[in-house]
This record gives sequence, structure tokens and C-alpha cells, in this order.
Amino acid sequence: MPGEKLSFPGRNYLFAPGPTHIPNEVLTSMMVPQEDHRAPDFPQLVKPLLADLNKIFKTRKGQSFIFPATGTAGWEIALANTMSPGDKVLTSRFGQFSHLWFDLANRIGLDVELVDVPWGEGVPVMEFKKRLRADKQHKIKAVIACHNENATGVTSDIEALGRAKKDLKHPALLMVDGVSSIASIDFRMDEWGVDVAVSGSQKGFMLPAGMALLCFSPRALAARKKAKCARCFLDIQDHINTNKDGFFPYTPSVPMLRGLRASIDLLLGEGLQNVFDRHYRLAEGVRRAVRAWGLKPCAASPKWYSDTVTAIMAPPSVNAAEVIHIAYHRYNVSLGAGLSKVAGKVFRIGHLGDNNEVRMLAALGGLEMAMRDAGMRVKAGSGVGAAVDYYRSTAKKIPAFKAAKAPKETRAKKKSARRRR
Ligand SMILES: Cc1ncc(COP(=O)(O)O)c(C=O)c1O
Repeated sequence: MPGEKLSFPGRNYLFAPGPTHIPNEVLTSMMVPQEDHRAPDFPQLVKPLLADLNKIFKTRKGQSFIFPATGTAGWEIALANTMSPGDKVLTSRFGQFSHLWFDLANRIGLDVELVDVPWGEGVPVMEFKKRLRADKQHKIKAVIACHNENATGVTSDIEALGRAKKDLKHPALLMVDGVSSIASIDFRMDEWGVDVAVSGSQKGFMLPAGMALLCFSPRALAARKKAKCARCFLDIQDHINTNKDGFFPYTPSVPMLRGLRASIDLLLGEGLQNVFDRHYRLAEGVRRAVRAWGLKPCAASPKWYSDTVTAIMAPPSVNAAEVIHIAYHRYNVSLGAGLSKVAGKVFRIGHLGDNNEVRMLAALGGLEMAMRDAGMRVKAGSGVGAAVDYYRSTAKKIPAFKAAKAPKETRAKKKSARRRR
């Protein structure tokens, strides 16, 4: 049948680093009859949603935007609304996603200065600082950085980059791709001096794909007035005009807005710091498993380790794509594939979004079986065991167990049975 899915018993274990597992609260919030997006009470949904989105970006001064699009459109929204054709921007490339944003910047007519970095490392803050210092005439209008390179499992130090720019008093806008970091690992728009933050719905926000979530600082908002890059559907001005009254410039996807409401409620209800701590702990269990298997992450050193995704290097004799194939077809576990330069060389475990210890053990167990099936010499239970030990040793404190007292009659019966004996 067209569109037929492979049928497996049980739920698919989705461990791609986005899209991620959607929690029940979010799923059920989206199952609503179509609503009137011009109804007088519609702003009661939209206005608090935009205000609460600012809390996720950690900004008081910025303005959040919701577009019915994906993270890729978010990159274009960031640049097209602040830059003019021929403007110089500085960026670096160390994975498929930093490459794609670089490529998009070129294609919309910007003059892109690129620093190529080995895959497995991240934003070269010192090199950027050197180039910004040399740019006495402030020709560089934007510094573009990928916070979490999803292809290699590398997180960059955006705080250090913001500080470097501030130390030099360089006026370039700082634009950050937080598609696979925001709402999962720490991100502080105001404190780090970020001017445009780009995110998407299908990762830490635990929603289906289809929503680009952005935040612009006052400096970035001001830049739109001079920016000459062509834009129409992606123009934030139309959102500014309509969002202030709680509406959108076109028909919004209301179920997605309802889902975003539920997602933000979950994130703020858990507490952002608790969300970040949970992501660290789950990621660390995965890293311990990788070590126990005798394998290496793609991230070149611990300072680059990502708490949202671990890309694991397969031994040279093994095609990582085969491991992913076996995991899916035999065990119903979806892993992230190696992309571009690392295709066939890595498999990725996403540990972002709605996860807990036991879900991670499912990913590790499924991967362990698939690796053994693909002929890799990993000991059964070694990675799972290492993660079990780590999760147990860092488990949350719970009240001591007290056995319930047996009901009176049972105690009386036991007593008379003892007497009879
Ligand atoms: C870091 C990063 N940036 C951007 C994107 C592109 O987002 P989308 O696929 O939603 O367009 C992705 C997608 O995986 C990503 O991981």
C-alpha cells in the first residue's frame, strides 16, 4: 500500500537527534478541532506564548517570533532581515549544519568569510577574535555560529564568543543556530550578547517539525530597517505588525501553537536548569557506554561534548550505515545517520527532549545488539552496564521505602497459625 510503514510490535524507539519523541502532554494538546485564528480570544493563546518563548531564549529585551517553517528557514529569516546583499559575515564550518548555514548565506548574496575547522571541533573563538580585531573598519556585519553541530555532536562556547566580541567592542551582530541546543542545554541570549537566535520545533521543544522559533535582540530589530536582502514571507516586519495584537500575518498552524504551549509548560514546569541537568546526566551515561564499548565519539575532546547528541565513530572496518540499518529493521530503534563527510563513519544517538534513564538504556541496548550483529566486537551488556552504573550512582533521592503493615486479620491469622505449630 502506498505510504505503508514497516510494522513492528511496540513503539518505535526514536533516537535521531531530532525529530525527537513527542510527550503525551504535547500530543494530546494538538488534538483539537480547527480553531478560528481571527477569533477575539485568539490573542489569549498567542501573546503569553510569545512572552514565554522569551523565557526559553533567556531574554528580557528581545522579541520572539514563530514562523510556520523549519530551522533552515530560521537561518534565512535571521540573515535576510538584518543584512544587505554584499554584506560581509564571518562564519566557520565543522559539520553538515554549519556548512548548510554558510551555504545559505552565500546563496542569498552575502560575502562570507569562512574558517574551516576539522570536523569534531567547534567554533574557533580565538581565530574569530583575531579576525574581528583585524577588522578595524567594521566591515564584518555579522558573526554566525552553530551552537550545537548536530552532525558531529559538538557544542561550542557561545558565551566565550560573545565575550570576545564585547571585549573588542566590535559591532557585528552575533547570530546563533540553536536548533539542536535551545530548550535542551544552557542558552542565554541577553547574557551572552546574542542578537539573533534560531531554533526549531522538533528537537528540544519536543514537537513535530514545522515551526521555526527565533528571537531578535533590539540591535537586530533595528538592523531590519536598513537591511536590503529580499524578503516577503520571511519578513519579521509583518509579524511585528500583527503579533502585537496577538495575531499572525497569515493562517497559523493552531495545533502546533497549542503543542508549543504544552511544550513550554513542560519545560518551565520542570525548570530550565533541571532540564539542562537531565540532559547532561543522560548524555554522560551514553558517553560512559561509548567508552565501555572501546569506541570514540566524533567530538575531538571533552570540551566539545554535546549533551544533546553523541556521534560515535565506527571502526574503519564497519559501515556505520549498516549498524543503523540493523537497529531499525531488526530492533525498531531509529538512530541518526552520518551526514556528508562522516556518512558511513558515524552513528548518532540523540539524547535530547523527552527522555529518561530507561529510554536511554533502550537506545544503548538496541545499538549494542545492532553493533554485534554487524560484526563489531563489543561485549554484550558492556555499554548498557556502564550506563546503568552511572545512572544508579547519580539517581535522584527518593523517600526511604516503608513496607505497608499487613491488615489486622492477616496478622491475627498468622499468630494463630504460629500457635498451632
Ligand atoms: C543544528 C541544526 N541546525 C539547523 C537544522 C536545520 O533544521 P530543519 O531541518 O528544521 O530545517 C538542523 C536540523 O537537524 C540542525 O540540527
